[in-house]
Amino acid sequence: MPDALPAIPGAVSRPPFVHFGPGPLADALAGVPEAEVTEFLGSWDDLPGDAHLGTEKPYRFRRYGKFRLRSRGLAPLPHAPFFQDASVNRVNGGVARLFAPLHPSVAAGEPLRRVVLALLDRLPGPRAGIDTCGVHQIRVVATVNAEGHPAPEGVHRDGHCYVAQVLIRRQDVRGAESCLYDPERRPVHRAVLTAPLETIILDDRRVLHGVSPVRPASGAATGVRDMLLVDFLGGS
Ligand SMILES: [Fe+2]
Repeated sequence: MPDALPAIPGAVSRPPFVHFGPGPLADALAGVPEAEVTEFLGSWDDLPGDAHLGTEKPYRFRRYGKFRLRSRGLAPLPHAPFFQDASVNRVNGGVARLFAPLHPSVAAGEPLRRVVLALLDRLPGPRAGIDTCGVHQIRVVATVNAEGHPAPEGVHRDGHCYVAQVLIRRQDVRGAESCLYDPERRPVHRAVLTAPLETIILDDRRVLHGVSPVRPASGAATGVRDMLLVDFLGGS
């Protein structure tokens, strides 16, 4: 039974996703003092464990923040739990998940502002009505004894309008193939993100997505995959 995805006026003729290399976001970060970019990228080293995994030891670490989109910037919204409806997230849906907030230096920093605005310029569909974004910093760690699951809910929607998936770091990792699916769950795009700042932006109303498990590369004890996810939504 196909998932019911709402029709998006004016969107039918446009591909439901874009996938681009590091160039656009590297360009967006050009001109930002190197120390600020280093601090931004280094902030993935300080993410608390995700307490909602149901595992004894977390394999996923994360922070979250929500912003109102302004013409040239981001206005932070009060920190609040992240909520997905049970109809879109079979594992964590219906649960208000309180994640640690973004570091103030990340939330108010020039790198995040520039990256989000660059993503907003490249949405795979109409931008009308998009006034809010959610920012997730996520690290998934895999060991030889425990693989990491970027998407434990399997093939799914997030329940937003658009979702940007930006690779920050991929170290000693095997797997983690990103896949997009049409409403009949037929694959329409497969990719392994390998270059830092390589990005997929998908229309969450027109495609579903999933990511295969993260495993350590051959000979490595641990693999690490850091992602920046940016949810774009409207009227919330
Ligand atoms: Fe997702």
